[in-house]
Amino acid sequence: MNHRSVTWGRYRESRDCVNRILVFTGKGGVGKTSVAAAHARHSALEGKKTLIVSTDMAHNLGDIFEIPLGKTIQQVSENLDVLEIDPNHVMAHDFQDMRRAMANLIGSIGVPDGQLDHLSVFPGMDELFSLLKIMDLHESGQYERIIVDCAPTGETLSLLKFPELLSWYMEKFFPVGKVAMRVLSPISRTVFKVQLPDREAMTDIEKMYVMLMKLQNLLKDRQTTSIRLVSMPEKMVVEETKRNYMYMNLYNFQVDGLYINRILPEDIDNPFFHEWLNIQHQYITELEEVFSEMPIYRIPWFDTDLNGLSGIDRIDREALNGRDVFALQEDLKGERYVKNEAGYLLSIFLPCVEKGEVHLHESGTDLIIKIGNFKRSIPLPASLRSHGVTSAKLDEKTLCVQFES
Ligand SMILES: Nc1ncnc2c1ncn2[C@@H]1O[C@H](COP(=O)(O)OP(=O)(O)O)[C@@H](O)[C@H]1O
Ligand SMILES: [Mg+2]
Repeated sequence: MNHRSVTWGRYRESRDCVNRILVFTGKGGVGKTSVAAAHARHSALEGKKTLIVSTDMAHNLGDIFEIPLGKTIQQVSENLDVLEIDPNHVMAHDFQDMRRAMANLIGSIGVPDGQLDHLSVFPGMDELFSLLKIMDLHESGQYERIIVDCAPTGETLSLLKFPELLSWYMEKFFPVGKVAMRVLSPISRTVFKVQLPDREAMTDIEKMYVMLMKLQNLLKDRQTTSIRLVSMPEKMVVEETKRNYMYMNLYNFQVDGLYINRILPEDIDNPFFHEWLNIQHQYITELEEVFSEMPIYRIPWFDTDLNGLSGIDRIDREALNGRDVFALQEDLKGERYVKNEAGYLLSIFLPCVEKGEVHLHESGTDLIIKIGNFKRSIPLPASLRSHGVTSAKLDEKTLCVQFES
């Protein structure tokens, strides 16, 4: 029996698991890897069994931890393991039946078999295996904290929304197990408590669908998965950070920490830097306003770059220390349905977006929200299928959609 089928049979009975997954993302070069590594060190020093994984193909954890890394997990210090994920290796070694399911799926929509190895038929497919590997490691229970050093913003967002997108397509194009659908609806909060149908009774594709739904649930479980944004006080980076924050909320991910990196020291007396200091002030203030509901960490611009342990320990000492960087931010807003007199109100927290940018329409049993190049299809819960949208407004950074029967 291979590793994958063991995991398939191991559905959680209860939701008492507190093991966390923290995903660090941001524009290229802003300091994601350094900040993620500082958290990993911090966590291990707290005595928590910690794993730092990199899903960015431009891996550099080996440089930071000053050890050569292979394709498997390695311990770097007490309580701290490191893994640079190679999605192709993961696919071949850990997810053979998933790979078979993918072959069935692709075969049934007419893609020649030979192309499967490249996984190029679905953009984002290879990275999906990185997420599945992370889910596997999380479920194994061996780590209290998994720190993910992610690829730059755009890629991270595609990666995170991919399981939702793929399961949406599967649902549309295959008569994927009605049972699986029923028990694993994203709305169902009791998802992990439900007894799934006998494993043998599900086809490979159904199993894959269930895996994707589980993955989606894990990534959107606000008690488990946190997205942390790394930024810098300069125009382009701030713009991207705000946009990223909005999209993460559109897909209902929990963003619960902001890192403002490369802050110049106040006491530079060279006049060349005076205007830079002003610019930085302006953007720091803007970021602090936009992210006022969550913890914000300020990281100084150090006098050297940060390769090696001594470098990341400086981040820990000067920006994280004394703060509970892993605390759950339970009062942050996510997507929710509330029953009201008229019917149901769906509210989605959507900061940093203009009214005119949000386009909404219903399609079959889905509500479709389009902003810029991103489109999210929200399958409506069964109880709303006899209802229609009667109004929608953007108010106090929240999109409110009213459903009436
Ligand atoms: N606050 C800082 N002060 C000085 N150098 C920094 C700082 N933050 C990051 N660096 C350096 O900038 C470079 C990019 O950082 P890195 O963490 O690799 O970013 P990313 O993972 O976002 O590409 C590295 O050489 C790193 O040592
Ligand atoms: Mg990096």
